[in-house]
Amino acid sequence: MSLKKEIINDSVPKHIAIIMDGNGRWAKKRNQSRDYGHKAGKESVNKIVEACAELEIKNLTLFAFSTENWNRPTLEIDFLMKLLLLSLNKELKSLNKNNIRFKTIGNLEKLPKKVTSYLKKVAKETQDNNKMTLTLALNYGAREEIVNAIQVIGDKVKNNLISLKNIDESVINQHLYTHYLPDVDLLIRTSGEKRISNFLLWQIAYAELYFTKKLWPDFSKEDLYKAIVNYQKRERRFGKTSEQIN
Ligand code: FPP
Repeated sequence: MSLKKEIINDSVPKHIAIIMDGNGRWAKKRNQSRDYGHKAGKESVNKIVEACAELEIKNLTLFAFSTENWNRPTLEIDFLMKLLLLSLNKELKSLNKNNIRFKTIGNLEKLPKKVTSYLKKVAKETQDNNKMTLTLALNYGAREEIVNAIQVIGDKVKNNLISLKNIDESVINQHLYTHYLPDVDLLIRTSGEKRISNFLLWQIAYAELYFTKKLWPDFSKEDLYKAIVNYQKRERRFGKTSEQIN
């Protein structure tokens, strides 16, 4: 029986973030190249986006390429960029058909020009969609994001656009790449690693963390349902006591 039936529809997470890990190991197990694993990983992306839309999850953020991933072999980076371009080209229609807004977080300037301009095009052409927001983190690093926010805020203080005493959490939120997103409710990482790897450090302050041994290409809709059912069984106290919550 599918776990989908166990999900309580009116309390699904508002924002799910996923560290998609294990493409390389999945391919290695099959004596295939890492590229083969990334291609299979892309199929998982499609399935999980579809499942989130079906469950009416408003925000899904996927870690697709970190600031540290530039250290990978050039050929692998080239393949990932090509795969991204191909996928965007292929999925634009389907994003619009399914009323999904596409966004990116991270410093896009370092990506190949063709990729950057295509990312911007897809974001623009889907900007009015409102069923779900799909965000890809590309050349993203949370510390870099925070440094960037501090620089912009500092500049505004210098130019008297904001006073030092008015800097609070909401001001910081507004200057992060994720200013349009609510905090993460559920963070999933596949492949058995239990690390955050510089992903959304500010935004996961109260997130529930879910780690699974499944490698990303094997992560199915059913695995997502399992994570959400698990999330819904947890008590989120946000610093309060159990009695206060109940
Ligand atoms: C992690 O597996 C995956 C990545 C660094 C890239 C993520 C890319 C995809 C899921 C496919 C493409 C997606 C889009 C949206 C076009 P890994 O390579 O770190 O695996 P390993 O830890 O087993 O080596």
